[in-house]
Amino acid sequence: MYIKAKEISLKNGQHLILRSPDMFDAEQLLEHMRITSTETDFMSRYPEEILVPVENQARFLQMVETDPDNFMLAAFIDGRLVGNAGVTRVRDNIKYRHRANFGISLQKEVCGLGLGTLLLREVMEAVRCTSFEQMELTVFADNMRAIHLYEKAGFEKVGVMPRAYRLKDGSYHDEVQMVYRIKEGGL
Ligand SMILES: CC(C)(COP(=O)(O)OP(=O)(O)OC[C@H]1O[C@@H](n2cnc3c(N)ncnc32)[C@H](O)[C@@H]1OP(=O)(O)O)[C@@H](O)C(=O)NCCC(=O)NCCS
Repeated sequence: MYIKAKEISLKNGQHLILRSPDMFDAEQLLEHMRITSTETDFMSRYPEEILVPVENQARFLQMVETDPDNFMLAAFIDGRLVGNAGVTRVRDNIKYRHRANFGISLQKEVCGLGLGTLLLREVMEAVRCTSFEQMELTVFADNMRAIHLYEKAGFEKVGVMPRAYRLKDGSYHDEVQMVYRIKEGGL
């Protein structure tokens, strides 16, 4: 599914464009993943683990665009990708088709300005046009800002995986699992 461009303003008055990234954004999206994985340990990978060739990423973006349910939504400042959110089917098998994974990442320069809330609101509106019945996510248990955002939007905590992540410094972090039932409304 492709979401067309829409202009939004942040708390600091900065203007952004929200739209689905297309195949020509593949390189920027990979760079965004590397930047956010460098800026915070709350991402699931270290930057050096983002090894997807740009052609594969472009093909993936084309597939998402033509999929009836999966979609991505990116935020651009003057054409520069600074944030991204996505909804993807958990598994293709029939028994799983009502479930979608949700993910979001913003570069530090736009964190805390309301962009996460705005992106999530757009995602929640768009997800109603899909066949998904629930969105699921996992988050570091100490990522209080993200958990606050998800709870505000209507996600519920459903479980905790102890010691789910081990960082390079040897520290362990629990993972919280959260679910949002689409028909019940949110932000
Ligand atoms: C998590 C993230 C998506 C949030 O987006 P954001 O634009 O920074 O968030 P917003 O400005 O829209 O809202 C943040 C909310 O959290 C609150 N908040 C900020 N720090 C907080 C903290 N330490 N504890 C609790 N709440 C906090 C803010 O007050 C605000 O609440 P409000 O809207 O009720 O006033 C973004 O910061 C991000 O991408 N961070 C890095 C990567 C990441 O953590 N991704 C999520 C992985 S699961």
